[in-house]
Amino acid sequence: EVPREDGILALSRHTLGLALREHPALLVEFYAPWCGHCKALAPEYSKAAALLAEKSIPATLAKVDGPAEPELTEEFGVTSYPTLKFFHDGNRTHPEEYTGPREAEAITEWLRRRVGPSATLLKDEAGVQVLAGTQDVVVIGFFQDLQDKDAATFLALAQDALDMTFGLTDQPQLFQKFNLTKDTVVLLKKFDEGRADFPVDKELGLDPGDLSRFLVTHSMHLVTEFNSQTSSRIFAARILNHLLLFVNQSLAAHRELLADFREAAPPFRGQVLFVVVDVAGDNDHVLQYFGLKAEAAPTLRLVNIETTKKYAPTDEEPITAAAVTAFCHTVLNGQVKPYLLSQEVPSDWDQRPVKTLVSKNFEQVAFDETKNVFVKFYAPWCTHCKEMAPAWEALAEKYKEHEDIIIAELDATANELEGLPVHGFPTLKYFPAGPGRKVIEYKSTRDLETLSKFLDNGGE
Ligand SMILES: *[C@@H]1O[C@H](CO)[C@@H](O)[C@H](O)[C@H]1NC(C)=O
Ligand SMILES: *[C@@H]1O[C@H](CO)[C@@H](O)[C@H](O)[C@H]1NC(C)=O
Ligand SMILES: *[C@@H]1O[C@H](CO)[C@@H](O)[C@H](O)[C@H]1NC(C)=O
Repeated sequence: EVPREDGILALSRHTLGLALREHPALLVEFYAPWCGHCKALAPEYSKAAALLAEKSIPATLAKVDGPAEPELTEEFGVTSYPTLKFFHDGNRTHPEEYTGPREAEAITEWLRRRVGPSATLLKDEAGVQVLAGTQDVVVIGFFQDLQDKDAATFLALAQDALDMTFGLTDQPQLFQKFNLTKDTVVLLKKFDEGRADFPVDKELGLDPGDLSRFLVTHSMHLVTEFNSQTSSRIFAARILNHLLLFVNQSLAAHRELLADFREAAPPFRGQVLFVVVDVAGDNDHVLQYFGLKAEAAPTLRLVNIETTKKYAPTDEEPITAAAVTAFCHTVLNGQVKPYLLSQEVPSDWDQRPVKTLVSKNFEQVAFDETKNVFVKFYAPWCTHCKEMAPAWEALAEKYKEHEDIIIAELDATANELEGLPVHGFPTLKYFPAGPGRKVIEYKSTRDLETLSKFLDNGGE
């Protein structure tokens, strides 16, 4: 007898084989009793078991205590927890790893798309309407031969694209209805252009990467309002340039600008994502990221989320569709230089043992050829920075009589430096005296003794 807990089979090396024989669709979670992510998953996993039963989806959930079952973790190459593996038709040698969201609905849907078809087979127009009626976006694959490899590629992609709904047809009258003569993937949406087509290249075959990019790009609204619900979609869109219009949505004059903004968007689809940020909303962190105050609205900024370079219009032109278009073109053509965030130099920047640097005084202090300068680049919210703060203060105190040594800090979230990107917090860099603009990154432990030794050894 295999014990069940909350609808989940608790398996061991003795019972896995039996479970595989009895359950043709079996998802197994390898967990460790001490693992926090596993604890967070537990209620979702139980809820998924209940959803599967409720929706009569013939799939079974199970779990294995990894540390207690070393033979099994070894057999299945489990190196971290939780790891979820799906066993189909009792096949023990080729399970499929589940890497989707660790949420009940997503797990349920992922399994549903494996035990049944991942796309609804559409026979007629009524079927299309029923499917399209359920969602803002639906994706329909039109294939003359449902058995060919392009249709198989489409169905495989649909198994994993859990946030979209898929249909499939081979019916000539539907091809005709949609004006199609060749195999095509059609995205239907209840907004913007209403429809976007991805023709299948029969010679090269359907490329899942290209199709996936097409679907993500075309399922986004032309203009997306930034908020806590949309932000994950915005960053998942894999469009590197984001153009942001900052407005105060409670002002009619600002709302009127949205029409111009939207008018400029279509030619940039797939290349620049158009986003509206309401400064009167809960978006202070966005303003801060761009070094903006709410009073600056209405204004535009463009950011490349890969390089994190930020661009601002160089003139104070009014925001019209033409101005938005021109701004995008000048940035994409490399005609605008990115801007760097900087705070003002505080009047007491050199009064305490730890000196305060900002972008504006950084060059002059850090690259002073008569001084050895040790700088902590931090973020105000970073806990490792807070943990090392006392050691940094003590270091500054210890060396405050040394004329040639400066201990400093710079808030890297509000001050950017050209050619000196800071990727993690805290980052410690040492700028030794002398010519040549040398920079040495400190990579040892952050305690007073080790830090002092590094200084005494001249940066080694
Ligand atoms: C398991 O699946 C793999 C890959 O699909 C296949 O090659 C293998 O023959 C299957 N094993 C069994 C026992 O069905
Ligand atoms: C099909 O094409 C014709 C002629 O190009 C056009 O008038 C019609 O609107 C199209 N129908 C659809 C559903 O796109
Ligand atoms: C937005 O506009 C309203 C109405 O004028 C004003 O009361 C509010 O302070 C503005 N919000 C911001 C953040 O500027």
